[in-house]
Amino acid sequence: MRETEILVERARTGLREAFGDDDTDPVVALAPARVNLVGGHTDYNDGLCLPMAIDRHVAVAARPRDDDSIRVSSTDFDETATFSPADDPSGWVAYVAAVARVLREDGDVPGADLAIASNVPTGAGLSSSAALELAVGRVLVELAGAALAPKALALACWRAEREGVGVECGILDQFAVGLCEPDAALFLDCQTREYEHVPLAGDVGVLVVDTGVSHELADSGYNDRVRECEAAVTALRDATGTRVRSLRDVDIDVLETHADALGDVLYRRARHVVTENERVVVARDALKAGEFGRVGDAMLAGHESLRDDYEVSCPELDAAVELAAATEGVYGARMTGGGFGGSVVALVAGDAIERRAQTIRDAVADRVGPDARVFTGRPSGGVRLLGSE
Ligand code: GLA
Repeated sequence: MRETEILVERARTGLREAFGDDDTDPVVALAPARVNLVGGHTDYNDGLCLPMAIDRHVAVAARPRDDDSIRVSSTDFDETATFSPADDPSGWVAYVAAVARVLREDGDVPGADLAIASNVPTGAGLSSSAALELAVGRVLVELAGAALAPKALALACWRAEREGVGVECGILDQFAVGLCEPDAALFLDCQTREYEHVPLAGDVGVLVVDTGVSHELADSGYNDRVRECEAAVTALRDATGTRVRSLRDVDIDVLETHADALGDVLYRRARHVVTENERVVVARDALKAGEFGRVGDAMLAGHESLRDDYEVSCPELDAAVELAAATEGVYGARMTGGGFGGSVVALVAGDAIERRAQTIRDAVADRVGPDARVFTGRPSGGVRLLGSE
């Protein structure tokens, strides 16, 4: 059985075991994890990014209920929770409740029994939370008999993450998980919220090195970086006397001219964002042309910028990038996700993926850390309802 089939079966069985047998056939949605090839910390700066969904998933099986409460069971955590619309649960259930709440603001969503099964590592910077949100959102929309465009669902889940969980994140994760297509990356403009599917012109995959250093966005420096970028925008607006609304309105010349007005830290934060947007365009074009070496160069330059200018890396992430980059056949590597831990993504030729993974696996405990793990990822599609493809 393929891994996703096993996962779906786990969710279906979990539903029966937690909430009893029933004649109704459950609705099942499958949402992928994502890596971000280039475009780190640009999304909340109205910038550009280039994510790709990978074949690790969260599966949610669901059945409607007669009342408006939601019962949810996680086969991975072996936990079951029940909440009604007025409740505000914590932990992983908070994501489920936040999605239900946001969807209920816009329409009728019935009560439901849900079971979750996941093979996305949590805390690894691979958007396990967005995958959970989109899978839950997709089944709830189906149970409601509503029609919601994929982009609207992604935006609803983004609101759920911000309002329900308190991370001031941008739209990257929910758009990637919601809108990616198989064998393509997603070029996303976070200012206009327009996007383009960028077909991978060749057989490539990714290696993910999970450092094992867990990051918690809400507790880490993530929201501090959001504040610093806002401060940089205010300083640049004052210094230039023009209507700078976000770092997207600034190019490198303007930034250099007004560097003194920013001071060292804000200048470096802004320089990362401005140069990272440029790297996304370079990487998108290179990806289209099948010039994977150039994509890899943009990834490596992006990592240096995240490390030195944006200061969201950590020694384990740097070691993992170094190890991956020194491995034959790897085009490039960088941290993916919020940083301060989590994972590194490396771009590799598809036919060599298992061999490269093994080479890195052999060295990862010594070079990165005892809890580090390596796995492979293939480009995958965004959230989907089973039986609807
Ligand atoms: C996290 C956030 C995203 C994005 C990335 C950094 O994954 O959830 O919105 O800001 O960090 O690129």
